[in-house]
Amino acid sequence: MTLSPEGAVLLIGAGRMGGALLKGWIAGKRFSAIHVVEPQPSAEIRQLGAKRAIVLHTGFGKGLPDLCAIVLAIKPQVLKGARDLLAALGRTDALVLCIAAGITTAFLESALETKARLVRAMPNTPGAIGRGITALYAGAGLAAGDRRLAEALMAALGETLWLADEGLMDAVTAVSGSGPAYVFLLAEALAAAGREQGLDAETAARLARATVSGAGALLAADSRAAAELRREVTSPGGTTEAALKVLMAPEGLEALMRRAVAMATARGKELGEG
Ligand SMILES: NC(=O)c1ccc[n+]([C@@H]2O[C@H](COP(=O)([O-])OP(=O)(O)OC[C@H]3O[C@@H](n4cnc5c(N)ncnc54)[C@H](OP(=O)(O)O)[C@@H]3O)[C@@H](O)[C@H]2O)c1
Repeated sequence: MTLSPEGAVLLIGAGRMGGALLKGWIAGKRFSAIHVVEPQPSAEIRQLGAKRAIVLHTGFGKGLPDLCAIVLAIKPQVLKGARDLLAALGRTDALVLCIAAGITTAFLESALETKARLVRAMPNTPGAIGRGITALYAGAGLAAGDRRLAEALMAALGETLWLADEGLMDAVTAVSGSGPAYVFLLAEALAAAGREQGLDAETAARLARATVSGAGALLAADSRAAAELRREVTSPGGTTEAALKVLMAPEGLEALMRRAVAMATARGKELGEG
């Protein structure tokens, strides 16, 4: 068994998230071998197999080398029904990292039927271009080097951070997991508002898209707080201030966002219990 990030890793489920992880691992050349279990690999994944960038398997079992880590990237509902697979994973001595939304370490511990080395992770979709952020939670019983290994696995999608309390995973899901959808909605709403002010649909969509992505890039490039960047665009008595008076009113965007994130957090808790 090896605990070094240079060992072989196994990915179970090469869909959207799993596929993004694979591409990051291949580009990072961090692991000695990448094995993938995926019943219906896409043409792109099959091509990676043909080029020997990865080793494709149709199921978990024979033909797998000594693994340093196994990453579970299948849907939560599929994972809940995959008791045989989970029990088999529990018999390996690899680190098990699970990105399935709402799947707790308590569920995994019981399904793996062992005190496995477990990490729970919540990535987000900008990970597909290496600009994601993943929150990690370390289960009990991690070995030396496991945190580093988990970070190396998820660094394929962008930034990583550790949570001290697993109970906060639902809040993370509500902020960064679902968050990209809120930002896309902002682009849609901005375009619709532009159309209402007389812009044609194409111009409004282009302006909104470039504004949301450009402001995001500026936020990423500048270490100042978002509020400071906002104030910089807002001159007293100007157009931005007129709009912000509406957006920052008591029932404005901040109140709406608080309600939306609270709803998403509550839904995450429900799904986790179900
Ligand atoms: N997308 C997000 O924004 C996001 C964010 C955070 C976390 N996650 C989590 O990431 C996980 C994957 O999400 P996704 O969007 O990548 O889903 P996805 O595109 O459906 O990918 C899951 C893949 O796993 C395959 N699969 C199903 N059963 C399997 C098995 N027993 N062994 C191996 N592979 C199996 C599926 O094949 P079939 O299609 O043939 O069933 C599919 O290709 C989910 O648990 C989700 O909660 C997603």
